[in-house]
Amino acid sequence: MMQTMLRYVEQTRSTNHDLMEEVLSGGSHGMALYTDDQRAGRGRHGRPWTSPPKKNLAVSIAVIGERYRRDLELIPLATGVAVADLLASDTSVVVQLKWPNDLLIGNKKCAGILCEGVQKGMQLMGVVIGIGLNLNMQREDIPEDLQKSATSIAVETGHDHDLHRMAEHMRIRVLQEIDALADGGKAAMLARWQERDVTKGRRVQILSSGTIGTADGISRTGGLRVRMDDGSMQEVRSGEVHLLPLLTG
Ligand code: BTN
Repeated sequence: MMQTMLRYVEQTRSTNHDLMEEVLSGGSHGMALYTDDQRAGRGRHGRPWTSPPKKNLAVSIAVIGERYRRDLELIPLATGVAVADLLASDTSVVVQLKWPNDLLIGNKKCAGILCEGVQKGMQLMGVVIGIGLNLNMQREDIPEDLQKSATSIAVETGHDHDLHRMAEHMRIRVLQEIDALADGGKAAMLARWQERDVTKGRRVQILSSGTIGTADGISRTGGLRVRMDDGSMQEVRSGEVHLLPLLTG
């Protein structure tokens, strides 16, 4: 039976959850599911990902196959590059990346990425890439406490964008990027990531340890390199960093 590779659902709890279930029951590589009404979206570190109904895009894409395993830990970064490039070419906004994979426009988050491995017992069946994009949310739709840290494509461009077209483009671009990575394009992808790196040369605080240093790009395995004040170099492999405000005056 021919599977539809991109499907829209009116409403769901979590597109990542749904697609992970489908991968477990035999879904194929490249299948994708999206909605503009996600009610129990999952964010990184077990946080919720919330979005007002009928405004934003929640899309999940299945990555299945032996050839994608070698650079598994780079899939989130490759997705960030793909989505940033797509937004830049489709909407001409200037997008920066904040390690590991937040998309920012002028220091405000416009999209987040959550990649989840699909396990059957001990076996890895695939990875589901989930992307939450603030697409058509207006300034007044952004909760008060996030006004300073979140934005949307509509706010930045001054007009609405077609959700279905965006989902379709996103599926294609992300899969192309993941394929290029599997074909040995790691160095090129990391270089493109670094061109958009918002933390480069900035003071950052590593949240897990509270230590502060200067961000110095990403390593070949996708960790964030941070030069500590004693000159030593630390590589942050997981978790998060805070961008410290620029000193002025
Ligand atoms: C983050 O915390 O920044 C990552 C957010 C990822 C949200 C997306 S929306 C589509 C997919 N389905 C989910 O439940 N979460 C991801």
